Amino acid sequence: MEKLLAETASRATRYLASLPERSVVPSPVSVAALEKLGGPLPESPADPAQVLALLDDIGSPATVATAGPRYFGFVIGGTLPAALAANWLAGAWDQNGAMQISSPVAARLEEIVLQWTIDLLDLPAGSGAGFVTGTTMANFTSLAAARTALLKRAGWNVEEDGLFGAPPIDVVVGDEVHVSLLKALSLLGFGRSRVTRIPVDNQGRMRFDALPPLNDRTLLCIQAGNVNTGAFDPAAQICARARDANAWVHVDGAFGLWGALSPQYAPLLAGFNAADSWAIDCHKWLNVPYDSGLAVVREPKHLQAAMSISAAYLTSSNMREPWHYVPESSRRARAIELWAAMRSLGRAGLRELIERNCRQARLFAQLLADAGFSILNDVVLNQVLVSFGTADQTRAIIAAIQSDGTCWCGGTQWQGNTAMRISVSSWATTDEDVRRSADAMVKIARQLLTR
Ligand SMILES: Cc1ncc(COP(=O)(O)O)c(C=O)c1O
Repeated sequence: MEKLLAETASRATRYLASLPERSVVPSPVSVAALEKLGGPLPESPADPAQVLALLDDIGSPATVATAGPRYFGFVIGGTLPAALAANWLAGAWDQNGAMQISSPVAARLEEIVLQWTIDLLDLPAGSGAGFVTGTTMANFTSLAAARTALLKRAGWNVEEDGLFGAPPIDVVVGDEVHVSLLKALSLLGFGRSRVTRIPVDNQGRMRFDALPPLNDRTLLCIQAGNVNTGAFDPAAQICARARDANAWVHVDGAFGLWGALSPQYAPLLAGFNAADSWAIDCHKWLNVPYDSGLAVVREPKHLQAAMSISAAYLTSSNMREPWHYVPESSRRARAIELWAAMRSLGRAGLRELIERNCRQARLFAQLLADAGFSILNDVVLNQVLVSFGTADQTRAIIAAIQSDGTCWCGGTQWQGNTAMRISVSSWATTDEDVRRSADAMVKIARQLLTR
């Protein structure tokens, strides 16, 4: 075992060392070679060292270098050194994070990380949280708590009686709602098309003046950090109106809520802490390994009511039982890596990560604008939208940038325009990486435009 793990550590170290210089995308030859991992399952056991060698030799070249410094697609962070190392230790521990009795360390780390998160993001003291796989499940988990609470107010027990015949809940979202939130709503029986969509402004922010009347059976979903522009809904106004009406406000704060860490960006977050629940991603901007997210609920009793189960053989204590806050029973102990990430960077290091990535997003915007290309959004956070000309030109340039391999960015549609999205979310990105990537983008764009 010792030799195997030491060898694996040097393979992983070699892989990480190769990231800054290798192509961000794997070559077609490397992807085709993945066939070598298949074939019929061998009848007899193999030496684990050989199995790992095969996995590394064939698998590593076929990875996308999302852990490297020049991946700007979707909203994908890297993995902080302490978080990666903690992930290895956690693998060795093989803890089932479900219960206090199955892992006291995982249960205690959840409590610590929750307190740190509440403190870092200025969320209400006493909030409860479930440690889940990412924002999709954080939205699902928080919205389940909202469903329980809103229906309880109307005298209905959704856990016992389901949704057939239940009093209706009015779900309100911004027109720029993330698709994963709509998916969570559909999984919860609210339906994707049954929602009221509120018009947005030119940055994708929900228009406060277009809010419908709210009441104590309204579930209002707002956003901290639009996936295209990084913009924030006007939370202070919305939450004040919702509080007067006793409506539930849920925040999809996947990456944007981390902005609260910095005094520079905290003003954008004003009022979000007056909501009732928050979905937060950790594998994005907190730079922990996949998968990791947090569903935070102001009044933990609603989350517990939605998620708790019991059975004679399952023990429960009077301590915080992790599995009373999440959809799963057995699960990965994600708080281990979260603890390591937060403990290693500290408040100042986390703030520096957020501020550096935002500054780098502005640097990208400046370099591309100086080269004559259009920036379509106000760069308020870590997201940049670029147009290289017509829709066809922009699409062709995105494809060429992707296959070039210096860096990777995806495409999107923004209010009728085709654009390239740049999302700066990794601890590993240096200013030099931004300049090198911008140079490659400009060179490729000019080559294609002058053809
Ligand atoms: C605003 C927003 N909500 C939800 C999601 C979905 O997150 P996940 O892929 O972790 O489920 C994303 C992903 O980018 C996002 O930006």
